[in-house]
Amino acid sequence: MTPEPPLVRRARPRRYLMCRPTWFDVRYAINPWMDPRQPVDVVRACAQWEALRALYLDLGHTVELIDPLPGLPDMVFAANGGLVVDGRALGVRFRHPQRRGEEAPYLRRLATLAVRGVHRPNFVNEGEGDLLPVGSTILAGTGFRSEPAAHAEASRVLGCPVRTLTLVDPRFYHLDTALCVLDDDLIAYLPEAFDAPSRALLESLFPSAITVVQREAAAFALNAVSDGRHVIMPAGAEGFAAALRERGFAPIEIEFDELRRGGGGIKCATLEIRRPGRMD
Ligand code: ARG
Repeated sequence: MTPEPPLVRRARPRRYLMCRPTWFDVRYAINPWMDPRQPVDVVRACAQWEALRALYLDLGHTVELIDPLPGLPDMVFAANGGLVVDGRALGVRFRHPQRRGEEAPYLRRLATLAVRGVHRPNFVNEGEGDLLPVGSTILAGTGFRSEPAAHAEASRVLGCPVRTLTLVDPRFYHLDTALCVLDDDLIAYLPEAFDAPSRALLESLFPSAITVVQREAAAFALNAVSDGRHVIMPAGAEGFAAALRERGFAPIEIEFDELRRGGGGIKCATLEIRRPGRMD
C-alpha cells in the first residue's frame, strides 16, 4: 500500500479585533485563575500582546483595534466582545456585573466592522468565549457563563444551527478554554471539561478530533487561534503541537502567560470578524 500523501493545509487571511491590555489588572475574581492579591505585570502583558499582534500581521492577517478603557481591566479579552458571522454581529451580555461596562463599547465598535449590522442580545452570551463557529454550525458552551437561551438567540440572529455543550470544570469556564476550532470540520478539545452528553455529541460530530490532556489544557493550549494552517498556541504543550503537525498544521508556539492571571490566553485576546459569505 502506498502511504497517503501529507495533507497540505491552507491558511485563509483573517480579520481580527484586539484590545491592548493597557488597563489590564486583576481586581476581582470571577474565575479560579484570578487572584487579586497577586500583582499583574502590565508592561509584560503589553509586550506579549504586541508580539501576538505582530505575528498576525506577519502571517498576512488584518488586525482591527478597539480602544482600551480605564476601569475595564478585562477588556483585553476581545473574544468576549461578541460573535461576528457572515458580516452580522451578535453583541455580548456578560454574566458578571464587573464586565458589563464592556458591552456598549464593543457593540459600538462592532457596528463599524459588521456590514450586516449588530444585534443587542437579550440573554447572557459571552461572545466567542462560548460561541465558536465550525463550518456552518456554532458550537455553544454553557454551564458557567452563557445561558442556553442565548444559544437559541444566536441561532436566530445569525441564521445557523447551534449545538449546546455543557462545561463542568470551573477552570475551563468558557468554551474557548476547553475546545479549539482548527478548520471547517476539525476541532481539538479536552473531553473531561464536558458532561457526558456533550462528550458523546462531540465524538459523533468530530470522530477524528484531537483530544488534549488536562496538563496541556490547563496551560491554555486549547486557547489557540488557527487560520487553517498556522495554529498560534502557548509554548510548552508538546502533545498538542505534535498532534497538530501530524495533521498537517504548522503550530507556532509563543509566550503568552501574563494574561493567564486574568484567566485568559491567545484566543481570548482575539475576536474574528467574519466577512459576508464566510461562516468560518
Ligand atoms: N477574566 C475574564 C473573565 O473571567 C477572562 C475572560 C477570558 N476570555 C475567554 N474568551 N475565555 O471573564
